[in-house]
Amino acid sequence: MKLKPPIPPLPSALQPKPKRPGTAEKVTPIDVAQEAGISAVDWIDERTSMSGGVRWLLFRKVPKGTNWFYTLGSATMFAFLSQAVTGVFLAMYYRPDASGGAYESIRYVSTDVFLGAFVRGMHKWGSTVMVVLVFLHMARTFFFGAYKYPRELNWIIGVVLLVLTMVMSFTGYLLPFDQRAYWATIVGVNINGTGPLVGPFLSDFLRAGPEFGVTTLSRFYSIHMLLIPGALAALIGAHLYLVARLGTTAPPWLQAERAPELTKAEV
Ligand code: HEM
Repeated sequence: MKLKPPIPPLPSALQPKPKRPGTAEKVTPIDVAQEAGISAVDWIDERTSMSGGVRWLLFRKVPKGTNWFYTLGSATMFAFLSQAVTGVFLAMYYRPDASGGAYESIRYVSTDVFLGAFVRGMHKWGSTVMVVLVFLHMARTFFFGAYKYPRELNWIIGVVLLVLTMVMSFTGYLLPFDQRAYWATIVGVNINGTGPLVGPFLSDFLRAGPEFGVTTLSRFYSIHMLLIPGALAALIGAHLYLVARLGTTAPPWLQAERAPELTKAEV
């Protein structure tokens, strides 16, 4: 057995000096700020008992071998949050008006509003980032076998999240209402219409009628900024609840290492 050598004491010049009896503790502004923060959190916790839930959610053991690929789910979640925040700012200026107002409002955001082009750019590029991340995250869970028992329900929720993310991209594409958005959406709606059984109903629903008209844009806008984000937020909540409840899967190479031991133990 290896013995650890004792830690040498600090030189006397660096050792903390004992307080003179009767001297008051020196309270710095940082101590006051810390105390105020702690009191505020305590005040909330005493009334809600939230700290138990927060500890349950955040302080948990993760399997050996957890690596950077496990961050893809959280990265997708942050992409979603960024889309939600930038989307709220864009909605403050956007007008779903098919007779030129929509195009004009987007032009105004891009050229006249302070940081408008930046926020619009974040939303536009962020949408691509989210789609790429959601696919990478799905690939990670697939190749690590995380869809198997007992996580099947989380995989199913994931599939719905994937579809909803694609619907966000599809409905957002029309909103600038320029030539490209208009014609690309007509093609997309027609492709939906070719689906078996539900296809024609789906394309009628998306167009808000048999023809592409003025209400189509409002329909896309409400799906894009109310219906799907609400569903996404709720399902991400359920997805994360299940991750916290079931824990994450160990990488398959470590599971393979463990398997023979398990069989031995079972015999
Ligand atoms: C908006 C989209 C999504 C978000 C925000 C999201 C978020 C997350 C997060 C934060 C985790 C835990 C950390 C991790 O393993 O990366 C996770 C785990 C998981 N996700 Fe997703 N996810 C999304 C979409 C999907 C999709 C499309 C699938 C598959 C079809 C999926 C299947 C799973 C599974 C099976 C787990 C458990 C992983 C394990 O136990 O190791 N998720 N998700």
